[in-house]
Amino acid sequence: MPATDPAIAEVSCLRYGEHEETARELAVDASLDVLEEAGLEGDELDSLFVANAFGMADKQGHVGPLISTAIGAPNVPSSTTEAACASASVAFRHAIAHVRAGMAETALVVGTEKVSHIDTMTATSYFCYGSDYFLEGGVGATFPGLYAAIARAHMDEFGTSEEDMARVAVKNHANGIHNPTAHFQKEIEIGDVLDSYEVAAPLKLYDACPFSDGAAAAIVTTEEKARAMTDTPVTVEASTQRGTIAALSEREDVTEIEGTQLAGQAAFEQAGVSADEVDLFEVHDCFTIAELVAMEDLGLAEPGKAAAMVREGQTKPDGDVPVNASGGLKSKGHPVGATGMGQIYEAVEQLRGEAEGPRQVDGAERVLTHNVGATGGTVTVNILGRGD
Ligand SMILES: CC(C)(COP(=O)(O)OP(=O)(O)OC[C@H]1O[C@@H](n2cnc3c(N)ncnc32)[C@H](O)[C@@H]1OP(=O)(O)O)[C@@H](O)C(=O)NCCC(=O)NCCS
Repeated sequence: MPATDPAIAEVSCLRYGEHEETARELAVDASLDVLEEAGLEGDELDSLFVANAFGMADKQGHVGPLISTAIGAPNVPSSTTEAACASASVAFRHAIAHVRAGMAETALVVGTEKVSHIDTMTATSYFCYGSDYFLEGGVGATFPGLYAAIARAHMDEFGTSEEDMARVAVKNHANGIHNPTAHFQKEIEIGDVLDSYEVAAPLKLYDACPFSDGAAAAIVTTEEKARAMTDTPVTVEASTQRGTIAALSEREDVTEIEGTQLAGQAAFEQAGVSADEVDLFEVHDCFTIAELVAMEDLGLAEPGKAAAMVREGQTKPDGDVPVNASGGLKSKGHPVGATGMGQIYEAVEQLRGEAEGPRQVDGAERVLTHNVGATGGTVTVNILGRGD
């Protein structure tokens, strides 16, 4: 059977932040939104891919059939993916693979998370289950702690400063103001970041992403079907996934994430383009240091040089190398199981020229999304392009 090129017909995204609804209800809302956008009924789907990382916080596992039932598609095969913070982009790849292989023609992918009803300590403990629990979470290394270790190593190796990291937060909060789906729409200054309380030194409140609730969805189908549903389909030029040794303590160098380097190289190769030909990079900035490391691992900057690009304003939406025009995880928010699909949503908005205000990257024709599970045990990269 010849491989079929997959495309994205429609996307939806609920505003990130605090929601009253459960994860499953959020997923149903985002799914009904995307079905309506695409002019589809639930029973026209032939696959449902759900991403949800912390069902235990919501006392609900096995959400696939609950969502398919609620959207009028109880007989559609559903599966739920957990890959920590990369859950949604891995589910997205499952949909891509099914369409490419001819196992599905029209798939709905929805990522969802609900954690705002539990306190910070409990949420932090749950999130630790996504690390190597024996070597990390179980002995007190939280995710802020692990990324603080990455930040310390980067500071020691390259002289990266707390101000360098703070500038990432300032830029991403400035972008989030123009994003109606963002958790935070609040401008901040470098002083706000530097004066905010330490979460895990050297990382402070404003270096961290928040705990967010949210859901985002997409209809993934064949290019032909996508063209029938919309005048502005989005093509999937590359979709790659690689890993890194799970525990930081077992890696030789923690100033880089090997999975990002490998997934990035493979994606550029698959799409047949170089980083210069990408107009926007939506990268996984769960902490400010993570954005700098991602830029370096994706080859946008030499090791240790990303901070200078941020300082020079090159990564703003109107700069040479726009990064996280959505506000990133820092300001848009990080509903773990939804985050990868939220990145896809932003990419589609940008490629359609529908991103609001100054966050729109002028004439964006190609967008890269980069989603990391834990500290890089799972990494996905997608390159999406205008299909019109
Ligand atoms: C940073 C963190 C510790 C803050 O938690 P907290 O101290 O309990 O903060 P609260 O939820 O009580 O919020 C206090 C205030 O700070 C704000 N806030 C919370 N997190 C924020 C963040 N990351 N950035 C900016 N503001 C934040 C809240 O909106 C609230 O503002 P308000 O007083 O105006 O209402 C928590 O958000 C965190 O651990 N984030 C990282 C999550 C994570 O590890 N994800 C996985 C990544 S791999």
